[in-house]
Amino acid sequence: MIPNQWYAVLESKEVPRGKLIGITRLSEKMVFWRNKKNEIICLKDKCVHRGAALSIGKICQDGETVECPFHGLQYDSSGRTTIIPANGKSSPVPERFKVHSYPTEEDHGFIWIWWGDTLSEYPPLPFFEDIDKKFSYSTYTEVWPVHYSRAIENQLDVVHLPFVHYNTIGRGHRTLVHGPLVEEMEDKRGFLAWTYNVKDDGKTKPFTPQEFPEDFKVFHLTFRFPHLWQLNLATKARIFIAFVPVDENNTLFYMRFYQKLVRIPLLKTLVNWIGKKSSIKILHQDRRVVITQQPIKTELQMEEKLIQGDIPIVFYRKRRQELIELYTK
Ligand code: FES
Ligand SMILES: [Fe+2]
Repeated sequence: MIPNQWYAVLESKEVPRGKLIGITRLSEKMVFWRNKKNEIICLKDKCVHRGAALSIGKICQDGETVECPFHGLQYDSSGRTTIIPANGKSSPVPERFKVHSYPTEEDHGFIWIWWGDTLSEYPPLPFFEDIDKKFSYSTYTEVWPVHYSRAIENQLDVVHLPFVHYNTIGRGHRTLVHGPLVEEMEDKRGFLAWTYNVKDDGKTKPFTPQEFPEDFKVFHLTFRFPHLWQLNLATKARIFIAFVPVDENNTLFYMRFYQKLVRIPLLKTLVNWIGKKSSIKILHQDRRVVITQQPIKTELQMEEKLIQGDIPIVFYRKRRQELIELYTK
């Protein structure tokens, strides 16, 4: 997993006021709740005293603290213990009674946590700026028993379309892949991948990325590190996925169908629902194959024989490796 990143880990509606939510993300147990200002608090879900889960405790002081269910230690939003009941209110709490507190943000209908070093200032949240407020969406969630790298790379794979999706988005047996052409974003935190797939007439050789013609730029997908992807179906319609690492073997998908073609309330809900249903069908075509891939996790250097059509995957692997190295020195 790439450190020093903002990760969308829950949807806003999954943390209602007055409730503790315990989850595993990025192989760590975390507890979430809202304080009285409706801000999201996220702490490591393990009491420093004797390891009980805070998420089965209770919210106290009007949302200012969480109380461990075992012996009643309370923690504030910074993760510091405010009271050890057995020692009495008059005893000071030692500094070392502290759990990790994750910086949080809430935007785009997601709850985000900063997974990495404590900084004085954090970078902006990663998102697709072209998804503006006029878009509405419907979300579908699902866990795949795969490492996040396999889940992400599947959505960067333009070669599989006529095989895995032969009767849906890959209809037409367009097996020959021109390019793909990868364009890195200015901030180097993401990229676009253009592809143009055609039927093989037995004579055509695929264009290399350098030869990729301008007028082939009709279909592209976008990726933003560490874990956001979108398929640009049209200016006003997108399929979006946040790939949330649960642990080394499981990835949670927050898939959204976004559109701004229809904005009339009920009709909009119906269109979003239909969009979501068809995206689920495509997703399950992928899942059938991806869960069989070995090894479980990908690396920049590994025993796979890649081809030109895999360029977006190679690009992703390189950049991911660089980011991991940058932050784990
Ligand atoms: S384990 Fe939490 S208070 Fe003892
Ligand atoms: Fe697919």
